[in-house]
Amino acid sequence: MAVKKGQELELEITGIAFGGKGIAKVDGFTIFVDKAVPGDRVIARIGKKKKSYAEARIFSIIEASPDRIKAPCLYSGLCGGCKWQFLDYAKQLEYKRMHVEESLDHIGGIKDVKVHPVIPSDRVFEYRNKMEFSCAEKRWLLPEELGREGIEAGFALGLHVPGTFFKVLDIDVCHLQKPQGNDILRDVREYMRKSDKPIYGLRSNEGFWRFLMIRHSTAHDQWMVNIITSENCPAEVQPLAEMLKKKHPNIVSIVNNVTSRKSSVAVGEFEVQLLGEPYLKDKIGAFEFNISANSFFQTNTPGAENLYRTAKDYAGLKGDETVVDLYCGTGTIAIFLSDSVKEVTGFELVGSAIRDAENNCRLNGIENCKFIPGDIKDSLFNVRKKPDVMIIDPPRSGMHRDVVKQILDIAPERIVYVSCNPATMARDLEMMKDHYDILEVQPVDMFPHTYHIESVAKLRLKK
Ligand SMILES: C[S@@+](CC[C@H](N)C(=O)[O-])C[C@H]1O[C@@H](n2cnc3c(N)ncnc32)[C@H](O)[C@@H]1O
Repeated sequence: MAVKKGQELELEITGIAFGGKGIAKVDGFTIFVDKAVPGDRVIARIGKKKKSYAEARIFSIIEASPDRIKAPCLYSGLCGGCKWQFLDYAKQLEYKRMHVEESLDHIGGIKDVKVHPVIPSDRVFEYRNKMEFSCAEKRWLLPEELGREGIEAGFALGLHVPGTFFKVLDIDVCHLQKPQGNDILRDVREYMRKSDKPIYGLRSNEGFWRFLMIRHSTAHDQWMVNIITSENCPAEVQPLAEMLKKKHPNIVSIVNNVTSRKSSVAVGEFEVQLLGEPYLKDKIGAFEFNISANSFFQTNTPGAENLYRTAKDYAGLKGDETVVDLYCGTGTIAIFLSDSVKEVTGFELVGSAIRDAENNCRLNGIENCKFIPGDIKDSLFNVRKKPDVMIIDPPRSGMHRDVVKQILDIAPERIVYVSCNPATMARDLEMMKDHYDILEVQPVDMFPHTYHIESVAKLRLKK
């Protein structure tokens, strides 16, 4: 049967693709169905149609999969924050493990590696230590509000509808953050609503209030609030900071990042400290970290500990090893390993991350870690002596080919590859598999209700 754009079809969902879409087959032809899960029988409307596949949206569900659950969130299915709330968590983990295994097989040609069951997130809700909410002049209405009279559509402080820059849902409660985060969100919204300063228009690029970023310290139950505006106006933001501190004494840092740039990134051209410290303190394992508003820090703190413990275990440390930590960010892995090795050398592109790493070493009294700035492609020649262990934790895009070549020349005995993207992990390991045995892979979930998954792969140089 030929599948055509605009057609309505009854489909049986039999699989799930990386990215979270359900898969149906019509005479062998693949259809990716948005928000569908295996076991669903649906009527779906075909949207995009290509030579080898089509995309479809659910029009109605005839029979729901037994794996469907009632999502606790009001915005489930609309919000880009999490797309899998309607899928049972045990099933989410099963599909995540399957994606890691399939990526290794289909992209990397790596077949016989043991991919363990996923280490689940300690918390399935309230797990994020950082949330970023966008301001918009008009809020995106919920389906049940459409066409209703007297609906107030002005102003949103919330999260985006997936794939859109201007559609913002006004979020009252987000279950990914702690309840107090929702109270802070509401307090800031009320203040902005009453303010004389305008909300920043995402199309007009004019206005004052732009973003709100909230960070929570899991270890100390303290908060950082970062208000992002287009101008520096202390008369407007200082009273907001005072009000928040009065209502929430455990907010220990309030800063104002100011940016007139059009890009929708909540990072300021400069930062004004309004109250308390310029950073938040949190812990991973026994180590303390100072996190400033714009520093990278894993967003699920207990999840990060699970990830780093796995990496440490796969490194097989005895205490006298020299370790190279590629793509080290703010040095969290280097610091986590520091008490179990002779020394760690971290490599990182972003200068401010290196400064954070050095500060965090000082904070913990660590003296056996050093950090080398620059693009790894150009700085890896600094590794003159073969390290005992190499940790590699690249960005989503994976490693540059030249970097892989240089690693193969250095040829450390043990490699631990940490990845947030099964596809690029599979591609990179494919380039290394003639030189290294890929012994096992441990997926670690840090992002419940999304299709994202971290993985740790254990590699040993072939004899
Ligand atoms: C996935 S993060 C790893 C962070 C760290 N390992 C952690 O757990 O927090 C990847 C890091 O690679 C850095 N990076 C990206 N491209 C790079 C390059 N070409 N050279 C050096 N570092 C790079 C990014 O700035 C980022 O800090």
